[in-house]
Amino acid sequence: MRAEGSSEEVSLPGVGPLPLTEREFILFQALVEREAGIHLGPSKQALLVGRLSRRVRALGLTSFGAYYRFVIARGNEAERVRMLDCLCTNETHFFREPEHFEFLRQRVFPEWMRRVAQGQMARRVRVWSAGCSTGEEPYSLAMALLSHFPPGSGWELEVLATDLSTWALERARQGMWPLEKAVSIPRPMLRTFMLKGVRSQEGWMKAGAELRSVLRFARVNLSDERSWPAGPFELVFCRNVLIYFGAEARAQALSGLLRRLPPTGYLFLGHAESLTGSAEPARCVAPNIYCARAPTAAGQAAP
Ligand SMILES: C[S@@+](CC[C@H](N)C(=O)[O-])C[C@H]1O[C@@H](n2cnc3c(N)ncnc32)[C@H](O)[C@@H]1O
Repeated sequence: MRAEGSSEEVSLPGVGPLPLTEREFILFQALVEREAGIHLGPSKQALLVGRLSRRVRALGLTSFGAYYRFVIARGNEAERVRMLDCLCTNETHFFREPEHFEFLRQRVFPEWMRRVAQGQMARRVRVWSAGCSTGEEPYSLAMALLSHFPPGSGWELEVLATDLSTWALERARQGMWPLEKAVSIPRPMLRTFMLKGVRSQEGWMKAGAELRSVLRFARVNLSDERSWPAGPFELVFCRNVLIYFGAEARAQALSGLLRRLPPTGYLFLGHAESLTGSAEPARCVAPNIYCARAPTAAGQAAP
């Protein structure tokens, strides 16, 4: 889905992939896992070459070894950010895994209304889309929320959208997508919340002001909890992100995410992900949807 690199990069003479030695791959493997938690298995050598060769050439370097020395140099944080931008897989679409949005509509939203009516909850909700890519997930969440709790209904909504990739996050912040992306947005929501581009923006759609008003953006590295936002969040969506992580980084991230839920909150993972490895007590309430399980007085997790 993503365009690789950026338009100002000009390839120097010599095109095509650069050679990568086994030793160089091992160095990059360790660097990427250390910086982002992402584990590049042996089958990912071609991916690394494909996504970084152009950047290496654009810098006027002729080998991955030279690029490795450049990228790890002290004070070269910007290049490490750029390298991770190239390596992250940003594929996403609106209302991905629609059953999750159905779960919100059928179970979570009525639950909130009931709790508000019983005086157990304020009309205030914070939601975190962790690993939001180019924004389709957090804007889908904002559409779902605003459809049930429209402006003027007294609900205070916030959708925090975070990602490691500065490239993806900037696209999310812009809130503009090619019109083809509209196919997975339910028609009534499309009409209510999106604007169709005209003239120079022909072929594009843009998030309207209502959607934008509930969204916040930040760069957050899920493998470094020091960069995380403080909770609690009623909903945490972290889908199709931790699947790229090594086992240890994944377990740590999962535990951190569960700790950001209140006892009534939900964590949503991608269809191929589970809580395996996390030390935090949790309960599966629907496929890939979890509740944090508060410990009982005896120190045991409640059933
Ligand atoms: C495949 S996309 C998933 C997007 C969306 N959650 C979805 O399910 O459609 C994975 C996203 O995770 C981000 N990512 C990868 N490693 C990350 C990390 N260590 N911290 C935060 N985000 C990360 C990538 O930049 C990418 O945008």
